[in-house]
Amino acid sequence: MRIAVIGTGHVGVPTCVALSHIGHHVVGTDLDQEKIGGLQQGIPPFFEPGLPEALVTELRSGRLRFASSSGEAIPESEVLFLCVATEPESDGRANLDALERAARDVARFATGDPVVVEKSTVPSGTSERLRRMLADSGREIDLEVVSNPEFLRQGSALRDALDPERILIGADSARGFEVMRRVYDPLISRGHRVIETDVRTAELAKYACNSFLALKISYANALASLCERMGLDVGVVTEVMGADTRIGGAFLSPGLGFGGSCLPKDLVAFELLASDHGYEFPLLREIRALNEEALFSVLRKVEDATGGMKGKRICLLGLSYKPNTDDVRGSPAIELARRLMAGGAEVVGYDPQAMPNAKSEMGSLELASDPYEASSAADCLVICTEWSEFAHIDLERMKREMRSPVVVDARMVLNPDDVRRARVEYYPTGSPPSIPS
Ligand code: UDX
Repeated sequence: MRIAVIGTGHVGVPTCVALSHIGHHVVGTDLDQEKIGGLQQGIPPFFEPGLPEALVTELRSGRLRFASSSGEAIPESEVLFLCVATEPESDGRANLDALERAARDVARFATGDPVVVEKSTVPSGTSERLRRMLADSGREIDLEVVSNPEFLRQGSALRDALDPERILIGADSARGFEVMRRVYDPLISRGHRVIETDVRTAELAKYACNSFLALKISYANALASLCERMGLDVGVVTEVMGADTRIGGAFLSPGLGFGGSCLPKDLVAFELLASDHGYEFPLLREIRALNEEALFSVLRKVEDATGGMKGKRICLLGLSYKPNTDDVRGSPAIELARRLMAGGAEVVGYDPQAMPNAKSEMGSLELASDPYEASSAADCLVICTEWSEFAHIDLERMKREMRSPVVVDARMVLNPDDVRRARVEYYPTGSPPSIPS
């Protein structure tokens, strides 16, 4: 099928590549000409494992291309995926300006009778606004609007897009379902599960998924705080929980709290949406409060371990909001850096991929070229993001570089045996500290 993808960010580019990979003719477009220029050269605008290679393969196949304007991408397309950002407003409501601009372009340039697909996470009921906008544009016929929320995670975007646990299609007409089944037929015929419902339910289900994932993380962080006070190991508790298939072990890793451009904003938007429909949903507020507590707990650990952070030099290993991405949007590590510096500490950071974005986000943050340089003369080292390379850092060398061998392992990355052998002062999340005698 001929498909246009509007918006080439963390959702749009994997969507372009995946749809091309399953055999469609795809044209991606974005307002950001720099992004389009890079994509036309096979260079994604962000770090995502495996994406550059897959992008080049699809460009070379002739199925995928990128256009510098919607006017070039939209005409003749049978399906139009809207993958534009829906960043939160100051009151937490999703900002739909980009979505509405994309809808106006669709109304202006669409030929024939394409199906418009909401891929970005949007508040339930957004499709109504889209339909009205498209109808108000003066087109003779109303365009079909369907919801097809993405469930991909940054760091495993392609795998999630090409091997989905479920394909969620929200439509309000037989044609909507029929067209979307054709789009995903190569995956459906390989046995991937399709769940079909109406548009508003699909929009709501996406919020329900993300907020439940955040609930699991916040529950694990609360357990970690309790285990620290009881002198127990939260890792054993969550292992026991995860062994129960009704609970499942995923998303029970305590740490610095959840970040990113999805979970935090979706929680706020979901709470507002519920309130708009007369339902107060205090649990969502508690999930956010526990997330804030997780970050504060690490800040307090640094304060305690250094005898007061003012004037101390703190090294942060990991600045992205999670490993295998260069994205620092909503990164707890960046927020921790801000609070340490506000408390009078000197902060230096290192990240395998996210340092350019960290520099743009926080120009005042000192950066180092490797973990050992970052630890030089540090009074405390905090592991903020569980990049695999941090699990194998040479703690003996780290000790020689640091002013005092104090490690706060906010993501439980280090092997306790390595820590004991190196005789560093070790403060993990969710289990008692180990202080060499
Ligand atoms: C999330 C959802 O997982 C995905 O389905 C949706 O499409 C987009 O939002 P993403 O934000 O890419 O994906 O990352 P995710 O892997 O969900 O992690 C989100 C945050 O939670 C990260 O900061 C991560 O460090 C944190 N996290 C995750 C934990 O702290 N503990 C965990 O056990 C899992």
